[in-house]
Amino acid sequence: MALIRLDKFISERTEYSRSNIKELAKKGQLSVNGIVEKAADRKIDSDKDTVSVLGKTISSQRYRYILLNKPAGYVCSTDDKDGETVMKLIPPDMRTKDMFPAGRLDKDSLGALLITDDGDLAHRILSPKRHIPKIYIVKLDRPFQNKYVDIFKKGIALSNGEQCLPALVRKAENSDLLAFIQLNEGKYHQVKRMFASVDNHVETLMRVSVGGLILPEKLACGQCMELLHKDVENLFRPIDFEAFCSDFSAFFSALLINK
Ligand code: URA
Repeated sequence: MALIRLDKFISERTEYSRSNIKELAKKGQLSVNGIVEKAADRKIDSDKDTVSVLGKTISSQRYRYILLNKPAGYVCSTDDKDGETVMKLIPPDMRTKDMFPAGRLDKDSLGALLITDDGDLAHRILSPKRHIPKIYIVKLDRPFQNKYVDIFKKGIALSNGEQCLPALVRKAENSDLLAFIQLNEGKYHQVKRMFASVDNHVETLMRVSVGGLILPEKLACGQCMELLHKDVENLFRPIDFEAFCSDFSAFFSALLINK
């Protein structure tokens, strides 16, 4: 049993402040187990009770984990000084005050992005010591060349002399212009700069997995879904690049070819 005040439970899991919650309660817009509740200070059992605000059920998880299929045109930040942020794409009933993107994709990049208010988890994901592998599919300006496989495997030096860790790359299905690449680090514009170092150019980039967490086929561009803590653990599962490419090449190639 985990007893907690109703207003505390809601304010920790949404963007509503305690005073908003009091107002909503007065208006009969909160419910516990389907029954309207006007006392925002009553205690509930967060393990068992179902709480709704304006008819939407509030997740009982202490921390929220949102997987967004990021569209182009949004910045991975909580600060909108450089343009509209990915936070705008999260529906209000899924968003909390302390959420932030646990990772970065460029403004014009697409694909899997985790947004959470769990600082410890974000730290585990972002820590350079962990080397969580990330797989991207890219659409190139010029045809893929087999020599990239060895060049990237050895660890390429970027034009400013920065040295990259060894990376895996493979042509994707359906087009010579599509390739998958797996990195174990996250330097600024790294994928674009690696292909620029072999005289190619990335036109479109989509992140398709973060660790063992694969962008679900059913998650359309611009949509987000809530993950459970156990799904989040997939981030730390190993992923086999070759098996991933064989299983998902046709699906992700078809997606990117039309972008
Ligand atoms: N590498 C890039 O160049 N851009 C991204 O958004 C992610 C990785």
